[in-house]
Amino acid sequence: MIRYERLQMLSLMLLACCLGGIVSANGQTVRSLLSHEEGFVLNSPIKETFEHRASPRQFADTPLSEEVVSSLLWAANGINRPESGRRTAPSALNAQDVDVYLADNQGIWLYEPKEHRLRKIVEGDHRLLVAGSQADFATAPVFLLLVSDISRFRMGEQAQRLEWAALDAGMVAQNVLLFCASEQLACRPRSWMEKDKLRRLLEMSDSQHLLLNIPVAKAP
Ligand SMILES: Cc1cc2nc3c(=O)[nH]c(=O)nc-3n(C[C@H](O)[C@H](O)[C@H](O)COP(=O)(O)O)c2cc1C
Repeated sequence: MIRYERLQMLSLMLLACCLGGIVSANGQTVRSLLSHEEGFVLNSPIKETFEHRASPRQFADTPLSEEVVSSLLWAANGINRPESGRRTAPSALNAQDVDVYLADNQGIWLYEPKEHRLRKIVEGDHRLLVAGSQADFATAPVFLLLVSDISRFRMGEQAQRLEWAALDAGMVAQNVLLFCASEQLACRPRSWMEKDKLRRLLEMSDSQHLLLNIPVAKAP
């Protein structure tokens, strides 16, 4: 019986691999990401990382590997202390208010740190909306979108919450930029984007603030 269940599990995992790591749960598409053990790429020492940090304007359209996407999202705002659920990026009051979305040629996905996976929120290639008037940037295979939900702050007036939101998004952004610098990836923090259209597309609530986006690509 146990062997049969194992076989079933293995077949399901194999099927998921054949589908490029995409499995459906409750009618929604979720995409498993690789774990540390399965192949994170996090190599470069800190001095070299700082030397490479820069915001280029050219983004190659070569797809990023699953290893890179998995490590990138974990570095951005993944869970680095599973016992407490705390993150790679700090947040005011440990509100963990910043959600990371990923826009690629298939859709816009939400990163779910607990499960370390992506959940598809909308279908289709919306990278041009993220690039906005800087349409040349839309060649990047991946954009990360940083969204703070200020309802997660347990205290503070609106102005204080907005300040924390911007600061927390900055922390996540810097994680991404340093990860990119350490892995010779091209990336650029950007506040410009078609915010209203993206807000409508992602059906964001009033407490959700779309603060920053970051195109990520292989360095030329
Ligand atoms: C909060 C913030 C918002 C930015 N928004 C944009 C943007 O909308 N478009 C853009 O091309 N660059 C944007 N940048 C990138 C800056 O222009 C860039 O970091 C700056 O020119 C310094 O260059 P460096 O990062 O290579 O040192 C932004 C940077 C920050 C920190």
